[in-house]
Amino acid sequence: MVVADVADAEGEELAAELGPPSRYAHLDVSDGDDWQTVVTRTEREAGPVSALVNNAGILEWGTIEEQSPESFRRVVDVNLQGAWLGMRTTAPSLRRAGGGVIVNISSIAGLTGYTGIGAYVASKWGLRGPTKTAALELAADGTRVCSVHPGAVRTGMTADFDDSFTAAQPLPRFGEPGEVARMVLFIATDATYSTGVEFVLDGGATAGPSTDLPAAD
Ligand SMILES: NC(=O)c1ccc[n+]([C@@H]2O[C@H](COP(=O)([O-])OP(=O)(O)OC[C@H]3O[C@@H](n4cnc5c(N)ncnc54)[C@H](O)[C@@H]3O)[C@@H](O)[C@H]2O)c1
Repeated sequence: MVVADVADAEGEELAAELGPPSRYAHLDVSDGDDWQTVVTRTEREAGPVSALVNNAGILEWGTIEEQSPESFRRVVDVNLQGAWLGMRTTAPSLRRAGGGVIVNISSIAGLTGYTGIGAYVASKWGLRGPTKTAALELAADGTRVCSVHPGAVRTGMTADFDDSFTAAQPLPRFGEPGEVARMVLFIATDATYSTGVEFVLDGGATAGPSTDLPAAD
């Protein structure tokens, strides 16, 4: 397995923890040349790619009125174009592998709106569409493509969020990274009849309004 990131020290550490044959590669997902280098080297050293998880993501704050076009572009470049570049660069290798799976990590911000993170919402909604297009285009090669939509998960991205953020959910807690990882693994190995669809894990956050209807007289 190749762990790829721009955070080289953390990536090296994770690959070492996983042990061989896992290894780390520097990859800025918004850079097409980086993608080509990583995919070519991976195929040379370990054979064609059979699974790709597009997980890199950034969050920048700002209402529609406040957020700068530069900030919007940065978020979309990583979260949406990064995953699109990953799919287009890896598709030929997946074909040579005889098919495989692509999992795009979107968010429940790709299913609903949130205040103050319009660029992030745009990128995560955006990722749902090309996930379906890729599922249609790559099915004949034996490749499935799905998106995953986590709610609030305890990671570096949510380090500043307090427990009140999840208090109104049916399951009033943050998710754990391992819960997302297990869903990705399920899609890759067991969800063999699923492609072009969304898998949601959000503690019920998108199930419906948390307010009770007024009681009937
Ligand atoms: N944490 C949550 O609550 C939550 C909820 C829904 C979806 N997500 C999504 O899950 C994914 C993982 O996020 P996380 O919560 O672990 O956040 P995180 O900030 O802890 O991790 C994001 C990772 O992406 C890497 N990254 C950022 N820009 C990159 C680039 N240009 N190229 C390569 N790597 C880059 C970072 O170095 C970091 O390792 C993201 O796509 C995020 O949008 C997170």
